[in-house]
Amino acid sequence: MSLKLKLKEGLFRILNLLPEKQGFYFYHKIQDVVNGENMLQRVKTNEPSFGLLQRLLQEKGLSLKGKNILEIGSGWAPVMPYFMLFHGKAKSVSTFDLNRHFSKKAVYRLNEVFFSEYGIRITPEPKRAYHLPKNIEYYPNTNLIAADLPETDLVFSRFVLEHVKPEDLRLMHKKFKRDLKPGSLIVHLISPSDHRAYVDKNLSLQDFLQYSEAEWQKKQTKFDYHNRLRLPQYLAIFKAADLELLHVEYDQPGEDIYKKFRAVKIHEDFKHFTDEELTAGSINVVLRV
Ligand SMILES: C[S@@+](CC[C@H](N)C(=O)[O-])C[C@H]1O[C@@H](n2cnc3c(N)ncnc32)[C@H](O)[C@@H]1O
Repeated sequence: MSLKLKLKEGLFRILNLLPEKQGFYFYHKIQDVVNGENMLQRVKTNEPSFGLLQRLLQEKGLSLKGKNILEIGSGWAPVMPYFMLFHGKAKSVSTFDLNRHFSKKAVYRLNEVFFSEYGIRITPEPKRAYHLPKNIEYYPNTNLIAADLPETDLVFSRFVLEHVKPEDLRLMHKKFKRDLKPGSLIVHLISPSDHRAYVDKNLSLQDFLQYSEAEWQKKQTKFDYHNRLRLPQYLAIFKAADLELLHVEYDQPGEDIYKKFRAVKIHEDFKHFTDEELTAGSINVVLRV
């Protein structure tokens, strides 16, 4: 394991020992130092996701225009909501997060980047939480499963589902089926790979499949939780909620990635999956209620 990954995991383990509030306080301070000044990069890495969302909708003859959107997993700043509102002309975005990561500073920085990069001037709303523009509602510290859903035409998530507990995923999708209007759409961009491989380039993107569930639970904390669900498991959750699968696409590994995958001793729990199911990366799904 690389020194960088060892340090990161060690730090998360220490933060995990602290009471919840203090743990998240220091977690945010560290994230701010690492990513704080990087709003431009954050926006640029969201740009392809926005293009992808537009393509997935266009392929179904649809667009974001005039839609009320519910985002699962707001993250650090409302980057996708800005794209949806100011480029896609969506009507509103309600963004839910199990935690509270937004800051006023991040919203101001995002406004600056939208002006410098796209010439879009966004007026801060000093009376609103985090000075968010109108038409964006932020619901931090909220588990969707227990919340009243706002009016929604489209549910969207980006790099979130892999961090949600499987039972919550089941309940969340059943709730969408029960509470949303028939015909509403759900678009998920899922990153099912071992995120530790982004820090330690020597690790396989499927490295975590060598561990039993108990071993893996011991290795991770609330700051880097990953459910390790494989493609067929996600599809089974959507099917059990009686959602219609309109589209699914995913990456297959190139030669180098496949070679590293073959070197991982896959745990019994995952052996019934095919190599294609185990290595399916960047899963994009479109569902209809
Ligand atoms: C990796 S971040 C992605 C954030 C953002 N979507 C992005 O693309 O940058 C995952 C986010 O999902 C949130 N999250 C995890 N489980 C959740 C749940 N059950 N409901 C809502 N948000 C959740 C985390 O707090 C975190 O902000």
